[in-house]
Amino acid sequence: MTDSGEPLVVLDGVNKHFGDLHVLQDINLTVRRGEVVVVIGPSGSGKSTLCRAINRLETIDSGTITIDGKVLPEEGKELAQLRSDVGMVFQSFNLFAHKTVLDNVTLGPIKVRKINKAKAVERARELLKRVGVDAQERKFPAQMSGGQQQRVAIARSLAMDPKVMLFDEPTSALDPEMINEVLDVMAALAKEGMTMVVVTHEMGFARRAADRVVFMADGQIVEENTPEEFFTNPRSDRAKDFLSKILAH
Ligand SMILES: Nc1ncnc2c1ncn2[C@@H]1O[C@H](COP(=O)(O)OP(=O)(O)OP(=O)(O)O)[C@@H](O)[C@H]1O
Ligand SMILES: [Mg+2]
Repeated sequence: MTDSGEPLVVLDGVNKHFGDLHVLQDINLTVRRGEVVVVIGPSGSGKSTLCRAINRLETIDSGTITIDGKVLPEEGKELAQLRSDVGMVFQSFNLFAHKTVLDNVTLGPIKVRKINKAKAVERARELLKRVGVDAQERKFPAQMSGGQQQRVAIARSLAMDPKVMLFDEPTSALDPEMINEVLDVMAALAKEGMTMVVVTHEMGFARRAADRVVFMADGQIVEENTPEEFFTNPRSDRAKDFLSKILAH
């Protein structure tokens, strides 16, 4: 929760096309250590592509993405290493369906981080407690609510000790009564100093937890500001129009 932290994620002149569609247009964005950046904008504006590029699930055409001082390479061992520094939670609960909650959380640390099983289990239990699903470690994902599954997905990402967490609309597939339990976990994480990039339409969360709001439209960052300034005093017509639509319902 500081703007004086060093740059942790830096996008410099990033461009990405899907065929003729210029989906990321010369994106420059710096996320500092401990900062929480909320990305909002209309459907199709490139928010998911931005997240996926940071995690290198999408390639970029030009520009650079730097994570903690290292430029994301095209491929290879170094990419795997850097990628494991970036945790990601998606809209759909992408847990391993045939594995228990505990196995979901310990798998990455054991296989990728080479942590011994007892240590991984101990840490997983801590994390499951932190996200409020500690009594359910023997369950399979299908035996849990969407909100619980999403909290397990957060625990699973945290188990890899990421330097930054990306969230792409983590609550948009949830029933309304489960949204807050996930947002509360995210807000607590933000308060503890986790560096986060969060794509969300939850304006209450943005106001409460974000250090900065980045507004995207048509593949560009149109505006960035503190949540207070952005919501009360948007500067661009695109942002004014967008806010009037989402705040209207
Ligand atoms: N794999 C792909 N191939 C072709 N076009 C794509 C692909 N992925 C995304 N697009 C297009 O790129 C644009 C940006 O998509 P993106 O998913 O990043 O938008 P978004 O801001 O996340 O939208 P939403 O709010 O609906 O999730 C859209 O026009 C989309 O149709
Ligand atoms: Mg999206």
